[in-house]
Amino acid sequence: MVELLPSILSADFARLGEDVQAAERGGGTVIHVDVMDGHFVPNLSLGVPVVKSLRKVTRLPLDCHMMVSNPDEFVPAFAEAGINWMSVHYEACPHLHRSLQLIEQHGMKPGVVINPATPVEVLIPILGMVHHVLVMSVNPGFGGQSFIPYSLNKIRRLKELRQELGLSYRIEVDGGVAHDTIAAVVEAGAELLVAGSAVFNGGKAEQNARELLELAQQAEERVQV
Ligand code: DX5
Ligand code: ZN
Repeated sequence: MVELLPSILSADFARLGEDVQAAERGGGTVIHVDVMDGHFVPNLSLGVPVVKSLRKVTRLPLDCHMMVSNPDEFVPAFAEAGINWMSVHYEACPHLHRSLQLIEQHGMKPGVVINPATPVEVLIPILGMVHHVLVMSVNPGFGGQSFIPYSLNKIRRLKELRQELGLSYRIEVDGGVAHDTIAAVVEAGAELLVAGSAVFNGGKAEQNARELLELAQQAEERVQV
């Protein structure tokens, strides 16, 4: 089933609670939280205190996308702050198997993320350990970038692999997901749809979320027919 994950990176941080609640009224079912360290990616975003505040204004699951060089060090603090799902980058984790175990041990659902230049096949050894696989469809670090079309092939491949290997991970996509691209990612097989600027830009989060979800659901129906 498709779900919309509003990414708060594009929200108004001075009105974060209101923005998140608007996106939730529009049909967002999981809140996507981008953590950046200015090292793994060329930007900074937010940390544990913001997550703690966020936890008080929504009951939706919080999906933490770790764009940091040393995610293991922050696992306990984010778990404690109320994160429910946590994904770490293949490119940032020399001991990925251990990082995923650590996330699970702290009661969060483990996910793995790949950058646009990383092939899906490198994930095969750990696909059985993850709750979700996140395909970056832009280079991570900033909101509002254009969707990279090759990402659709990676989503399709992950769907095939799930079938071939008899697994049940969910396929998430992040970057450039907007009114003009959301149908294509659903048709390719993504079901967890992260959208930042397409939801929060222009101050109409509720309406934007509703429209995006509707487009995604229509695409899903077409695929199922
Ligand atoms: C980028 C982040 C995304 C970002 C997406 O590195 O991981 O979650 O918010 O923004 P849009 O949807 O505007 O491409
Ligand atoms: Zn993200």
